[in-house]
Amino acid sequence: MKNFSKWKSNRLNLEQNELKCSALESNKQKNIDLFKYVAIIPKIIIKFLYPLYLIGKKNAHNIILKEKHIIDSNLPTSLEGLRILHISDLHLDEREDLVESISKLLEEQEYDICFFTGDYFSKVRNHKEEDYQNFNSIISKIKCKLGIYGVLGNHDSVETFENLSKFKIKFLNNECLKITINSYPLNVIGLDDVHYFYSDQVKATLDENKSDDFTILLVHSPEIYDLAQKNKVNLYLCGHTHGGQVRLTQKFPVFRRIKRGRKYFSGLWIFKNMHGHTSDGAGTSTLDIRFNCDPEISIIILNKSKIK
Ligand SMILES: [Fe+2]
Repeated sequence: MKNFSKWKSNRLNLEQNELKCSALESNKQKNIDLFKYVAIIPKIIIKFLYPLYLIGKKNAHNIILKEKHIIDSNLPTSLEGLRILHISDLHLDEREDLVESISKLLEEQEYDICFFTGDYFSKVRNHKEEDYQNFNSIISKIKCKLGIYGVLGNHDSVETFENLSKFKIKFLNNECLKITINSYPLNVIGLDDVHYFYSDQVKATLDENKSDDFTILLVHSPEIYDLAQKNKVNLYLCGHTHGGQVRLTQKFPVFRRIKRGRKYFSGLWIFKNMHGHTSDGAGTSTLDIRFNCDPEISIIILNKSKIK
């Protein structure tokens, strides 16, 4: 090569200083390869985030049946040992796999009554016929002598209410019901969602509760815990938070999705003399992942004192 040493020194200068010198441009500029930096994003996604997503998805699909005990010395003797199946936040249109997994979990389980606390689907309206049939398949696996009751969530609409009411579930929409158990009149109140659809009717239904009978409140979120306690509710059952869905540790969720009662975002809790249970939910919404927060259906067992 002619002038090899000149070519080599010029070339090494460009390479070692990461300079670029484009055709017909005499000025040398620092070689910033934008593509190299942009290409890092999909690389990170493929290398780290996608495997993490797969782990999160596996967690989200590993639904568990949890037995939880509520000990309340004021519990009427007639309600001793009452087993309540509590299901919340199915979001079935995103998670039709729940039909099979919940059916399996319910095999050979015993419970007296079943309560749903909202968010049957993620889409608010225009559901497919198969979404309703999937819900009916779950309902038909629930065998309990005292019936199946439900309330609406913030994802549920009048359309959802009207279509699901055709199945073996009774919706309590700002109403109160007496259910006789061993001759005892259990008071059950069901309210419309209070996260997006709080109304005077919600408050009036609670204010009207003058009963001294043991009262269970069904409402989608824990956000009216204090109003409920003031109105003689003994047990508050809710969901909505999905337990945070993604928690940094068992106790620290990234999001709670509630404006009030934030410390009641998950599991069993007590406010003054009122017991509560916020279900971590069966399904998922927005992102089909969970971390440090199992999807669940629960059987809540009522007792007057600790079982020895
Ligand atoms: Fe919700």
